[in-house]
Formats: sequence, structure tokens, C-alpha cells
Amino acid sequence: MAELPLAGRRALVTGAASGIGRAIARALARDGAAVAVTDLDGRAAQATAAEIGLPAIGLGLDVTDAAATACVLEEAAARLGGLEIVCANAGVSSMRPVVDLTEAEWDHNLAVNAKGVFLTDQAAVRRWLADGTQGVIVNTASLAGKIGVPLLAHYSASKFAVVGFTQALAREVAPRGIRVNCVCPGFVRTAMQDRELVWEAELRGMTVDEVRAEYVSLTPLGRLEEPEDVADAVAFLASDRARFITGEALNVTGGVRMD
Ligand SMILES: NC(=O)c1ccc[n+]([C@@H]2O[C@H](COP(=O)([O-])OP(=O)(O)OC[C@H]3O[C@@H](n4cnc5c(N)ncnc54)[C@H](O)[C@@H]3O)[C@@H](O)[C@H]2O)c1
Repeated sequence: MAELPLAGRRALVTGAASGIGRAIARALARDGAAVAVTDLDGRAAQATAAEIGLPAIGLGLDVTDAAATACVLEEAAARLGGLEIVCANAGVSSMRPVVDLTEAEWDHNLAVNAKGVFLTDQAAVRRWLADGTQGVIVNTASLAGKIGVPLLAHYSASKFAVVGFTQALAREVAPRGIRVNCVCPGFVRTAMQDRELVWEAELRGMTVDEVRAEYVSLTPLGRLEEPEDVADAVAFLASDRARFITGEALNVTGGVRMD
């Protein structure tokens, strides 16, 4: 029987208690990795890890906290016996026209989505440069990291930051054999989308069903995206099958974006 593509690898995923992060954790485990499921909601992280089954572990982690991020990454590596894959996926959103956007909303989106990716990746790279691991990072950016999306200017800014950071870090660490990529999902069926549907419907004077139908009509493959659609792309990028791919921002959108 062929060996699983991630057999023997140890992985950490942030924001992994729900939605895309949970699907990533499950896909990595399916492909043979031992996974540390981390999330702001530590209990939910543990529940997701229990659902995946041993050797998965669940840990609380707020990715805006630099010390906690470094500490949890080291704890995960100690408990799993090493660490070769890191997926910085945690993210938040809100919807507001720029004229009404508050500083607090701007700061929160940038703190979780952009700084959180920086802190997670930095902790991983510090460890790998010190011990020589040729690790792999996959960050979660967005369709909104390729094109500015109305009502999501702050979120778009944070996701453009993820794409730029991914490219810069990929160039920095390529000589050490470390790969860094990101995925750019489209309209994915998660709790985040459920919240956005309600906000967008209200802000645009539409019904939730009308907004959802618009998402589908904007998607050439003709349906909403599932978390597993993103997770399978992440599992591929984390595997040796993607051994010559670094600095990419891979669209996983059903054709919404093609650049
Ligand atoms: N849903 C979509 O349509 C979509 C599209 C493109 C990109 N994304 C991105 O995918 C990622 C996952 O989103 P999702 O749709 O699964 O959302 P979600 O709300 O279902 O899950 C996000 C998870 O991140 C966690 N989280 C929030 N703040 C955190 C923090 N400070 N530290 C650690 N964890 C934190 C939450 O507890 C939650 O479990 C995000 O980066 C999001 O921006 C989502």
C-alpha cells in the first residue's frame, strides 16, 4: 500500500476549531500528519482534536499574542515530537463602508489576519532556521487579497498583507529549503460566511438568499465553496507533491479569480 503523503509529518493549524481551519486539520490528519489543532476557543480546539482522534492535540491560542504564539508552537512541537507544517489560518471579518469603518474594526482585522500570520510564521521560521528543518508554511489569505472588495476594505487590506508577506518570507527562507505559500479562497460555506451574509444583506438592502445567490452566480463552477475544497489545496501545498512551489497565492475560488 502506498504511504500517505504526509506520513510522519507534524503540523500546527491556527483558527482550527471551525470552518476552513477545521477542514485543514482534518485533511492533514487524513493524509497522515499528527496535528495540533489551535484556536482562540481552546475548548472547541480540543473538541476538534478529539473528533480527529489521536495523535491530534487541541490547544488554546490567540494569534495576536506574540509570546503565546511562540510558546504554543513550541509546546505543540514538544508534544508531537517535532513540527514540519504550519498553517496560519485564523481570521476574522466585519463589513462596513469605509466612511463608517471604526479604528477598532480596522485594528482588529489587521491584528488577527495580518499580524497573526506574521507571528505564527515567525515562530515557525525561527524554530526551523535554528534546527535546520525544511518546513512548509501555508497561510490562508483570500480572494479579497487579490482584489479590493467593497464593504471589506479593512479585511482586503489585511489579506493583501498576507499575500505580500507570504511572497517576501518565501524569498527570505527559500535558500534554507523552507517553502511558504498561501491560499486565496472564494465564497466558502462557514460561520464567517453566515455572518457576512446577514451583514451584507442589511447593508445592501437585499435578502440573505439574494446575496447567497449572487455569490453562486459570481462563481463559474456554479456552487458555494466548501471548507474541504480549500483544505485539499492546503494539504497539497503542504506535501512534497508541491516541492517546487513557493511564494504562490493559489486561488481556490471555483473560478471567481483566475490571476
Ligand atoms: N469563509 C470564507 O468565505 C473565506 C473566504 C476567504 C478566506 N477566508 C479565510 O479563511 C480563514 C478561516 O475562516 P472561516 O471562514 O473558516 O471562519 P470561521 O469564523 O468559521 O473560523 C475562524 C476561526 O478562527 C478563530 N479565531 C478568531 N480569532 C482568532 C485569534 N485571534 N486567534 C486564534 N484563532 C482565532 C475562530 O475562533 C474560528 O474558530 C480566515 O483567515 C478567513 O479570513 C474565509
